[in-house]
Amino acid sequence: MSKTLKIEDLHVSVEGKPILKGVNLTIRQGEGHALMGPNGSGKSTLAYALMGHPNYTIDRGAVTIDGLNVLELEPDQRAKAGLFLAFQYPTAIPGVTLANFLRHAVTNVRNPTRKEGEELIPMRQFRKELNEHMESLGFDTALARRYLNEGFSGGEKKRAEILQLSMLRPSFAILDETDSGLDSDAVRVVSEGIARLVGPDMGVLVITHHERLLEYNKPHFVHVLLGGRVVETGGGELAHDVHAHGYAKIREKYPEAAAEEEEMDPKRRELEPAAR
Ligand SMILES: Nc1ncnc2c1ncn2[C@@H]1O[C@H](COP(=O)(O)OP(=O)(O)OP(=O)(O)O)[C@@H](O)[C@H]1O
Ligand SMILES: [Mg+2]
Repeated sequence: MSKTLKIEDLHVSVEGKPILKGVNLTIRQGEGHALMGPNGSGKSTLAYALMGHPNYTIDRGAVTIDGLNVLELEPDQRAKAGLFLAFQYPTAIPGVTLANFLRHAVTNVRNPTRKEGEELIPMRQFRKELNEHMESLGFDTALARRYLNEGFSGGEKKRAEILQLSMLRPSFAILDETDSGLDSDAVRVVSEGIARLVGPDMGVLVITHHERLLEYNKPHFVHVLLGGRVVETGGGELAHDVHAHGYAKIREKYPEAAAEEEEMDPKRRELEPAAR
């Protein structure tokens, strides 16, 4: 049976400031979704709130996986429930190699009742799996011996992320691709990687400004966030449209959301290039 991740009327504030004002999104396993929206519209806020980041306060609304209340779970329990957030471990962890980290993560996700200190999956079996995954993704196995995220380039971080997804096989993956510094090779690695991984058993939400990131993995649904709400949902053509025309058309079409946006950050529009 395919699982469903449901976000209903989600209101989130950061440091007392309301950012999300009633977000509704439904993602089923096997579906590819893209979330777009102007800078500051709250895309990352949504991702952080789903992860359970302590700075993001849920004021109202529900997030469920097949009825299970995700918001009540600790971040590690969210992972065990099948939710994966790409930036779950954004900071470098010196002394812990990517392989070591993955061995723990894979063990925990496969064996949700495991207590800290109990057996990890056997080294030989893990190595074999790790190498198979890296090979099929075309990654250099040396990356797995590096300390997690320490000195990783943008492209290497993305590879590590895709490798985690490939080995952990979450039911739902939320990928916040804010890094506009990716070169075109890295963009290709990420989008091809995602395209390979989205399958009947994985639902993916990619947060991105880059239409190119969607080139290799055409999303089934594209959503636009404005003024704290998802104002428009469409197919791949919506991403194309936003890319070609910017958000001006969307703002015209949804004046109330545009007014909310203006209220949230009055200086923002002055800073935006006129062409957008
Ligand atoms: N920790 C924080 N402290 C204060 N304000 C914050 C914090 N996190 C987010 N915000 C504010 O919340 C709003 C939404 O930010 P968010 O990062 O979610 O936007 P975004 O849609 O991801 O933008 P971008 O496209 O630039 O990545 C912004 O006005 C931002 O300044
Ligand atoms: Mg962001």
